[in-house]
Amino acid sequence: MSRVRVNWQIKALLPVALVLVNGLLLFALITVTLQDPARNQVLAIGFAGAIVICAVLFMVLAVVIHRPVVELQEKMELVRAGDLFVKVEFADRNDEIGDLGQNFNEMVQQLRESREEIERLHRTQMSRAEHLATLGEMAAGLAHEIRNPLAGIAGVMEIVGRDLPPDSAAKDVLGEVRHEVMHINRIVTELLEIARPKAPVFSPADIVAVSDQAALFARDQASKRHVNVHVLKNKAIPPLEFDKGQIHQVLLNLLLNAVQACDEGASVRVEFAEDNENVTTRVIDTGKGIPPEVLPNIFRPFFTTKGNGTGLGLSLARRIVEDHGGWLTATSEVGVGSIFSLVLPKKRPLD
Ligand SMILES: Nc1ncnc2c1ncn2[C@@H]1O[C@H](COP(=O)(O)OP(=O)(O)O)[C@@H](O)[C@H]1O
Ligand SMILES: [Mg+2]
Repeated sequence: MSRVRVNWQIKALLPVALVLVNGLLLFALITVTLQDPARNQVLAIGFAGAIVICAVLFMVLAVVIHRPVVELQEKMELVRAGDLFVKVEFADRNDEIGDLGQNFNEMVQQLRESREEIERLHRTQMSRAEHLATLGEMAAGLAHEIRNPLAGIAGVMEIVGRDLPPDSAAKDVLGEVRHEVMHINRIVTELLEIARPKAPVFSPADIVAVSDQAALFARDQASKRHVNVHVLKNKAIPPLEFDKGQIHQVLLNLLLNAVQACDEGASVRVEFAEDNENVTTRVIDTGKGIPPEVLPNIFRPFFTTKGNGTGLGLSLARRIVEDHGGWLTATSEVGVGSIFSLVLPKKRPLD
């Protein structure tokens, strides 16, 4: 519904005109009842006076109010077009209109300062992003360079080990070296994945089946520790769209962490839940738990509390899940266990 616009001059003049006309009518009534012969003349002068008063009032209003309003509208149009250096001229007037102008000028100045601040922040963010991208490239290059000689070292170790007599003490040392080489290889491989993230390739997949498969891999480590890994398949979870390989890797990371946190007798289970928008997969363990002061750090790259850990598993996992438009969170209680929740959206994120 469009509003009826009434010009402000009419609104301002209407009451004045009404009062004047009222006065004149009253005056006419009095002169008629008094039967004064000069009444026509007086009436004419009265009317002329009223018209002059209205005209003067109109002009005064036009100068005092209309001009600043028009200027304000023009300047606002300029601000809207992006010019934040405009100022209204009537700001130095010593009345309310002047205050309005001053407020407007201050507001535009604040807008200008905010815009400059945002531009400055944007520039620093951009250079940081470029810096990080360069670092990532460097790390990726370095990781690549390290992996080849590492494979060479592992090969040589293998050959040297084969040539040693079975009861040689050096065999233990070689085993230790091989273990360390594998550790470096793991760090370098994970670093490479972090530095050169691959975009997920989405296809319809069953999160329960992928979890089951990951659990199969994790049971190898779990059985050595006498830890039970169980996937609760009691829910009909709808198929989602995700990168099977990447989410498998995430679940395996979570399951191995869970198994590694468990002592004999503790257990790991995977549960599923859904709401209208998301499917949540929870990896729950009854292991040693994470102290509250450690919990905020666990997703940071290279944070590990394990002697042979890389500290890259969770940071990689979180990145993969976020690339899927989902999120990964953890809650934990020392002595009770931890819950890692992997939330994936039912609707594939727009790429
Ligand atoms: N289920 C869990 N229970 C207890 N602590 C955990 C669990 N999962 C992760 N953590 C903690 O988070 C740290 C980082 O995990 P992660 O990024 O996978 O690196 P890593 O396993 O190589 O140490 C672990 O060292 C451990 O302290
Ligand atoms: Mg890990």
